[in-house]
Amino acid sequence: MSLPTVAAKPAAPRINPLQRIWLREIGMERLWMRPAPAAARPVVVPQAPVSKPVSVPDAMPAVVVQDTAPLPVAPAPAPAAPPTVAGAVPVAETAVASRRANGRPGIPASILNRTGPPPRPEPKAAEDDVVEAPRIPVAEAVKNANLDELREQVVACTACGLCDGRRHAVFGQGATPTRWLVVGEAPGEQEDRQGHPFVGRSGQLLDAMLAAVGMSRETDVFITNVIKCRPPGNRNPKPEEIAACSPYLMRQIALLKPERILVLGRFAAQTLLGTDATIGSLRGRVHSLKTDEGAEIPVIVSYHPAYLLRSPSEKARAWQDLKLASRMV
Ligand code: URA
Repeated sequence: MSLPTVAAKPAAPRINPLQRIWLREIGMERLWMRPAPAAARPVVVPQAPVSKPVSVPDAMPAVVVQDTAPLPVAPAPAPAAPPTVAGAVPVAETAVASRRANGRPGIPASILNRTGPPPRPEPKAAEDDVVEAPRIPVAEAVKNANLDELREQVVACTACGLCDGRRHAVFGQGATPTRWLVVGEAPGEQEDRQGHPFVGRSGQLLDAMLAAVGMSRETDVFITNVIKCRPPGNRNPKPEEIAACSPYLMRQIALLKPERILVLGRFAAQTLLGTDATIGSLRGRVHSLKTDEGAEIPVIVSYHPAYLLRSPSEKARAWQDLKLASRMV
């Protein structure tokens, strides 16, 4: 059977609004939709092959290319209702609005006239932007604090990044008034959990060492650290963390007025004495710390208990350091 041959003039495009938007989005609209002359109306030839079918990728709906005005045939049926997407504006509504605006069915003017990529939504103004109170530098805040107020300041401190990872800021613990001030480096994991200094294995060794010279944290010694919050993974404190935290230690010294200070480990010794000398060269003699109030406090340097746990043969030297400290009473 021979089919009617009207194919010399290809048929009109027949795509629904969604398809047209899609073609535009993937940059193929010009290929698929060569515009018809002004007078032409898109028409569909009802019988089979009266026009050139265009092969299309699997996922793309077949369309028919219109070259010139076709024979007058039946008016095109209304475009098929597009699938709806939850939350999307129904295409039918935008189509009506756009027909009013641009005389072309189906495609919103905002999309038709667009030249660049789809506009991004305006960023939402942050509703919960918090206005921070001005920060008072630690050195200023501690100036007139008594010991209880100082403890509260340490517990609430956000002067450096270490506050982000801490469970507890560790102010210090011990006798007040005190005879000795013992200064370590920074809280470890156990200290961070419990909020007290030297409570892990190092702390047990420290208590035993103090007991050997007749001292205890309950009656004679106050124990604290240069840094009040645990550095993540027990890494060395950074210079800015030391700078932010050291006013607390200086105020503790000013308030406690200890007879002497026992500094444990290289880091604490170098920080307190303001030197980068080795611990080997710092221990075995008495240093002096001048306070802002004009007092001079004797300082004895010894090994950190954590080091002594790793190197027990050094305990003999630590014992000499303790005896040096005790002799000076
Ligand atoms: N190491 C320190 O330096 N300080 C502590 O409080 C505990 C371990």
